[in-house]
Order: sequence, then C-alpha cells, then structure tokens
Amino acid sequence: GAPVEVDISALQPGEMTTVEWRGKPVWIIKRTPAQLESLKKTEAELADPQSARTQVPTPDYAKNPHRSIKPEIFVGVGICSHLGCSPTSRFQPGPQPSLPADWQGGFLCPCHGSTFDMAGRVFKNKPAPDNLEVPPHMYLSDNKLLIG
Ligand code: FES
Repeated sequence: GAPVEVDISALQPGEMTTVEWRGKPVWIIKRTPAQLESLKKTEAELADPQSARTQVPTPDYAKNPHRSIKPEIFVGVGICSHLGCSPTSRFQPGPQPSLPADWQGGFLCPCHGSTFDMAGRVFKNKPAPDNLEVPPHMYLSDNKLLIG
C-alpha cells in the first residue's frame, strides 16, 4: 500500500483522529501534558515499558517512554496484539468498569480485556502479548505526517 499523508494542524490536545493505512486503522493522538505525565505513572505496571520486545518491533525513533517522534503526538496502529480486535479509547482517568482503580487513561480491548496506556503500551498479565504497533512514519513538515 501507498504511504498516507496526514495534515494534523487541526488536531487539538486530547483529541484523536484515525486514518487508514494498508487497510489498518492508524490512530494519531495529540496528548495533553497531563496525558504525557500519566505515562510515568503507568511504567511499573507495563509488560514492556521500553518497547524492547521484537514480536511487534518498535521503530528506533519511537523507542522512548512516549513511543513517538514528537512527545505529544502518538501514532499507533489501532489493532490489539492479541487477536486483532480494535481497542477503544478510555482517555478519562479514574475508576471505571473493566479498568483498574488507578486508571490513568489509555485503551481497553473489548474482546478479552487487554489494557494499554496513552502510548499503546500493554499492561502486565493481559492476553495481549505486546504493545500496539507504531507504524513507520515521518514528518514532512511541522504538521504533515507521512505514514508508511
Ligand atoms: Fe484484544 Fe484479545 S483481541 S484482548
């Protein structure tokens, strides 16, 4: 499939948009400062906080705690690494059904309950074996992304 160009100039902090790339949903999220801060709080509960695993390899430029090129902008494939369901956004922190009491915001897979943080990093002891995929991407300009 061809690379996909996306203009993210209209994306506001806390918002997420989805584009299609190679038939897969790709999420682009502009994280708020609080959402970025939440990544530090989840670290101890994650299966692979440094994205060191290779089953779903993370590009070198996203092997950092925010898993992205620009700290605030997350680009990830919205397909669960377990059996391929699409996790749903649960950005609101705090206790909610099916989520841990100290929930900091992230994603919940409706199929078997895997949870992911705001960087698509999977929590420990979940059926999903790995973090969400970060697709190859680059910035053509400040607000123009090329995915693929
Ligand atoms: Fe997501 Fe099973 S497909 S937890």
